[in-house]
Amino acid sequence: MNSTPKIYLETYGCQMNVADSEVVLSVMNQAGFQRTDDMSQADVVLVNTCAVRDHAEERIYGRLGAFHAHKKAHPGVVIGVLGCMAERLRKNLMESESFVDLVVGPDEYRRLPQLVDNAFSGEKGIAVRLSRVENYDDIVPLRTDGISAWVSVMRGCDKFCTFCVVPFTRGRERSRSLAGVVREVELLAQQGFKEVSLLGQNVNSYRDGDHDFADLLAAVAQVDQEMRVRFMTSHPQDMSDKLIAIIAGQSNVCKYVHLPVQSGSDRILQLMNRTYSSDHYLKLLERIKRDIPGVSLSTDIIAGFPTETEEDHRMTLDLIRTAECDGAFTFKYSPRENTKAWHMGDDVPEEIKTRRLNEVIEIQRAISYKRNQEMIGQNVQVLVEDVSRKSAADLCGRTDTNKMVVFPRNGSSVGSYIQVAIQRANSATLFGSEISSN
Ligand code: SAH
Ligand code: SF4
Ligand code: F3S
Repeated sequence: MNSTPKIYLETYGCQMNVADSEVVLSVMNQAGFQRTDDMSQADVVLVNTCAVRDHAEERIYGRLGAFHAHKKAHPGVVIGVLGCMAERLRKNLMESESFVDLVVGPDEYRRLPQLVDNAFSGEKGIAVRLSRVENYDDIVPLRTDGISAWVSVMRGCDKFCTFCVVPFTRGRERSRSLAGVVREVELLAQQGFKEVSLLGQNVNSYRDGDHDFADLLAAVAQVDQEMRVRFMTSHPQDMSDKLIAIIAGQSNVCKYVHLPVQSGSDRILQLMNRTYSSDHYLKLLERIKRDIPGVSLSTDIIAGFPTETEEDHRMTLDLIRTAECDGAFTFKYSPRENTKAWHMGDDVPEEIKTRRLNEVIEIQRAISYKRNQEMIGQNVQVLVEDVSRKSAADLCGRTDTNKMVVFPRNGSSVGSYIQVAIQRANSATLFGSEISSN
C-alpha cells in the first residue's frame, strides 16, 4: 500500500452522480486518502454507478471486468461499487461479482472510510440503507478547479413514474437548507467558478420551511451577478409562475429549461404516472416562451413504453413538432425490475422501439437545426469553457440558453465572457467569431 493511500474513482450516470462523487472524494480526503487519475497507482478503486436503463448497467459490467483483471494483478486493492446500481442490486452484486469488496448506496457515503478500512483487513461490506434525512449539507465537495460546478440541492424522488428506478435507488425526497446551498455557492464564487448548476431529480419540489425552489434560485442568483445559474430537472406538473418569473427576471439565471415530457399520448402519460396531460405540457411551454423571451427548452422522450401503439407514437411525434424544443434526450424504454411498469410487460418489439426512436430523433433533429439556423446573424454572449475538441485553433463555450458555440481563438481566455457573432449552425452547434471581450 502507498504511504498515503490512493483512491481512483470512475463516475457514470447523471449529474447527481457527478456531484455525489465529489462528496465521496471529500469524505475520503478527510480520512487521509488522496485522489489519483491512474488506476494502476490506486489502493482503492471505486465506481459510482447508474441503474436507470439496462444499457447503463451493461456498461458498468464492462468496467467491472477491467477492475476484476486489475484486482488479479494487484490482490491487495479494494474494489467498491457505489451509487444507484449498488443500491438496486445490493448483495446480489456481491454474490455475482465475487471480487467486489464493497457495495455502498447513495446515502451511506459517510461510512466509506470505515468500510474501506475493514476491507483492507479482509472484511467485505454492504451499506445500502436509504435515509430520509441525509443530504450531505455539511460536506464541502472536493471539486476539480474549473468554470462550472454542480451543486445538489435535493436528493431522492417521490414521483414514482412507473418506468423509473430512481425512487428505489435514491429514496425519499429531501432538500438541503437554503442557507447551506447559498454558503456553498458563495465559496464557489470566491474560488473563481463562473457557473453553478443546481441539481435535483425534481427541483420544483424543493422546500426549506417556507422557501420553495423559486426562492432558492433567487437567493443563489444574488450571490454573484457574474455567475451563471442553471438548474435541472423541472417536472411539468408543478412548474410555478413564480419560478418562471424568477428565471425571466434575474439576468444571471440562464434562460434554459429542461422539461421532460416523456410521451405525447395522454393514455401513456397516465400509465407512466406523469400526472399531467400533453395539453397541460404544451400550455406550460406557451407560458414559458411568452414570459421568458429567447428561452431555450429541452425535453426527454421515451419510445416504446408498454402498450404504446402507432397512434400513441404518432401523438408523441405531433407533440414534438408543436413543442419545438431546442433539443431532446431520447431513450428506448428499458424495463426495470420492481417498478410498476415492469409488471405491464415489455410488449413493444425491439425493432419497433428502434424505429420509433429513430423517428423521434429525426424530427427533433430537424427542429433543432431550424432553431439553430434562427440564431445566424445574432450576437450572443458566450462563457468560454474550453479549447474545441475538434481543433486547437478554436475555443468553445455556451450561450446562457445552453447552446454550444465554437469560434476561432482570439486571445480570449477560458472563464471569460465574450460576444460572438453567429455565422453558421448545425443541429448541435453554433459557429461564429468573437466581436469584443469584456
Ligand atoms: N428526474 C428527471 C430525470 C430522471 S432520469 C425527470 O423526471 O425528468 C432521466 C430520463 O431517463 C427520464 O426523463 C426518462 O426519459 C429516462 N428514463 C428513466 N427511466 C427509464 C427507463 N426505464 N427506460 C427508458 N428511459 C428511462
Ligand atoms: Fe424518475 Fe419520475 Fe422521479 Fe424523474 S420524476 S426521477 S422520471 S420517478
Ligand atoms: Fe442513474 Fe441514479 Fe442518476 S439511476 S440517472 S445515476 S439518479
